[in-house]
Amino acid sequence: MQKVPFTTGYLTAHCGDDAYGTLDGYKAEGGYETARRVLKKGTPEDLIETLKASGLQGRGGASFIAGQKWSFMPGAEDDTGPRYLVCNADESEPGSFKDRLLLERAPHLLLEGILLAAFAIRAEKTFLYVRGEYGEAIRVLTRAIEEARAGKVLGPRALGSRFAHDVVLVRGAGAYICGEETGLLESLEGKKGQPRKKPPYPAENGVFGRPTTVNNVETLCHVPHIVEKGADWFRGIGTAESPGNTLFGVSGHVVRPGLYELPLGTPLDEIVFEHAGGVAGGRKLKAVIPGGLSMAVLPAGQVDVPMANEFLRERQTALGTGGIIVMDDTTCMVRVACIITHFFREESCGQCTQCREGTGWMNRIVSRIERGEGRFEDLALLKDVCAKMEGKTICAFADAAAWPVQGLLRHFPQDFQSHVTHGQCPYPGSFVLA
Ligand SMILES: Cc1cc2nc3c(=O)[nH]c(=O)nc-3n(C[C@H](O)[C@H](O)[C@H](O)COP(=O)(O)O)c2cc1C
Ligand code: SF4
Repeated sequence: MQKVPFTTGYLTAHCGDDAYGTLDGYKAEGGYETARRVLKKGTPEDLIETLKASGLQGRGGASFIAGQKWSFMPGAEDDTGPRYLVCNADESEPGSFKDRLLLERAPHLLLEGILLAAFAIRAEKTFLYVRGEYGEAIRVLTRAIEEARAGKVLGPRALGSRFAHDVVLVRGAGAYICGEETGLLESLEGKKGQPRKKPPYPAENGVFGRPTTVNNVETLCHVPHIVEKGADWFRGIGTAESPGNTLFGVSGHVVRPGLYELPLGTPLDEIVFEHAGGVAGGRKLKAVIPGGLSMAVLPAGQVDVPMANEFLRERQTALGTGGIIVMDDTTCMVRVACIITHFFREESCGQCTQCREGTGWMNRIVSRIERGEGRFEDLALLKDVCAKMEGKTICAFADAAAWPVQGLLRHFPQDFQSHVTHGQCPYPGSFVLA
């Protein structure tokens, strides 16, 4: 895979340094000292309190407060059997490529985050579930886990403490739905990756029926920094509701696509025009998807928004995974809708009628509009199909399929109407569907 350019902050400070990927190189930067101290002298309760005080929101898409999630796990009184941590490294959201950098360039930072999280929830084992296509990440992580076992970072006395922990790497098989945490748990158990009905939630009944916490790669990589520098330090970055840095992945029609580590709350227009160098080829901006393909699009006039959920919510969209997809003024939004609906139609696991049939209907309707065979009633029909999918299914996939289509209809109805009126695409310079 192509190497991704990136700018650095505390998370990615050493990601340009090859030695940082090795145990010795990581230790040379002070790595594992925080976990060593906590595993020897700390308590799970204090660690959970620190994480809660930091306000760290999960970076896997749903922005759930990490410390709160950890506190849902049973306490020490439950000694009925093992409990597990699952690190979600499935990263399949189109437009999202932030975890890949951390997996390939900072494997020991992730392992330190895993050790701390596992200690907090008293997990004896972590399943590290990696997207099957991430071959380089799998190679790097396999070596890092072997090094960590040999160096007694992992094992029956992790980092010389009384805490026992091991990490097992599991390679996914290329299904987007296995990123949804309960689909992932099913896949881990060797079953079809179909999400589970909730409740019970994973903290009660997770992998192999045992209490489990699922955290995203980036979420876990923040943990050693928070524990080392303190919750107040973390709260001093970002916004009051959304603290810390995050990795914004910028792709599409920009001069400098890549990963930008910046505080949450950084304005979207600053990211696009300053950090990513603006729209490529001197063209005008048409629209931006702010958080991966599942999030609703923003038109050019609304990109003056801080990238944090409390602000994005007011514009009927969300941070998602921070994958920013930029589109210039040659882009046909009906073709964008074709791509989005095709993706979701292919990836639906098919358990829920609203999702299985709804994604197919959406794709058929936008495809006929794109071919110049649409009817004016199709716009209302599309909105109706979206409304029937939202909030009615086993997992959030159906919502994630409906939101981007609703956003396109909200902000760019003229693109759809023009196709219907003229029977052809009004954007001769737009990208072509394969
Ligand atoms: C359809 C779907 C796909 C998802 N894919 C991913 C993914 O690839 N990686 C990820 O970390 N979370 C993904 N999630 C979110 C997970 O279900 C879960 O919320 C997350 O892993 C929890 O980690 P966090 O609390 O650290 O963010 C997905 C959710 C849905 C509904
Ligand atoms: S919403 Fe879609 S992906 Fe999720 S369980 Fe139902 S059919 Fe499967």
